[in-house]
Amino acid sequence: MTTVLVTGGAGYIGSHACKALARAGYTPVTFDNFETGWRDAVKFGPLEEGDLQDRDRLRDVFAKHKPVAVMHFAALSLVGESMSNPGKYWRSNVGGSLNLIEAAAEAGCKNFVFSSTCATYGDQDGVVLDENSTQMPINSYGASKRAIEDILDNFRASHGLNSVIFRYFNVAGADPDGEVGEFHQPETHLIPLMLDAIEGKRDALTIFGTDYDTPDGTCIRDYVHVCDLVDAHVLGLKWLEDEKGSRAFNLGTGTGFSVREVVHHSGSVTNKPVPIIEGARRAGDATALVSGSRRADKELGWKPTRSTLENMIADAWRWHQNGHYDR
Ligand code: UFG
Repeated sequence: MTTVLVTGGAGYIGSHACKALARAGYTPVTFDNFETGWRDAVKFGPLEEGDLQDRDRLRDVFAKHKPVAVMHFAALSLVGESMSNPGKYWRSNVGGSLNLIEAAAEAGCKNFVFSSTCATYGDQDGVVLDENSTQMPINSYGASKRAIEDILDNFRASHGLNSVIFRYFNVAGADPDGEVGEFHQPETHLIPLMLDAIEGKRDALTIFGTDYDTPDGTCIRDYVHVCDLVDAHVLGLKWLEDEKGSRAFNLGTGTGFSVREVVHHSGSVTNKPVPIIEGARRAGDATALVSGSRRADKELGWKPTRSTLENMIADAWRWHQNGHYDR
């Protein structure tokens, strides 16, 4: 069986990717330090516990498993925290990724799939965001991811390391079978926090900013179902096997929803009221982030099938009520 090394395979998106890889006939080897991941989420292949700062450990794992490709999900990804503690983001995201990229290059592993983000584009109000849009991040999280894209470009030139870079928009939902789902501690993302408020696990959802230049004053995001997102990764792997090049792809649906619209849909899907408080803006938030590209569809044949807001909220709600992990 063909082995893929999955960093962050115990996390939200990484665990869904492991399931999709296993279903597509690959053996996903999870590499995770469990700083934010969960042992219970490693269900679809072997586990190698380790930290991206440990170069010897990385070398050993490449020698042992001889992966044909790397899928690199492991990262710190909180926009707010990246603004208050940028050093942590540069050290962990950029330093850790550099170690991983060097280890892959040294081991002769030529295929690299990287989780980047629409946060690399920054706040470009009114601009259609496609892969050629200028990358002007407004937070350290986005800046750290853009730097890793640059490192990959350098290693393509120096070592022939081919990469597929996926710039995610806002990932939501959960595995409809309930095997894995979204579980962060602490939680900072809109939909799980809203479901907590609906269930009475917190008093209310605070809307961060109601004075943005949008129709209802709240931020607009392009939400994509985690299962559709990881399907693109399997297609990206196949693209690398066939094309042996490097390419960036946006992963979003092209439709934006405001925070108030997400609140409204959550109320209808769960049939319960959403207690809200209108609060101040959160540092580092862009006004609107919506993909304007169909490149993933045209070049990879990616067809999102679950990414309606109703589906994402319903799958997240089912997981929220029944699923959880223990360390
Ligand atoms: N929001 C609230 N209240 C909350 C939480 C979020 O109003 O309690 C708002 C945010 O201000 C934002 C929207 O809901 O407008 C979505 O916020 P999330 O925290 O769910 O997601 P982000 O847009 O901040 O970040 C996510 C990922 C990043 C990725 C980014 C790209 O976490 O990894 O999308 O926009 F880079």
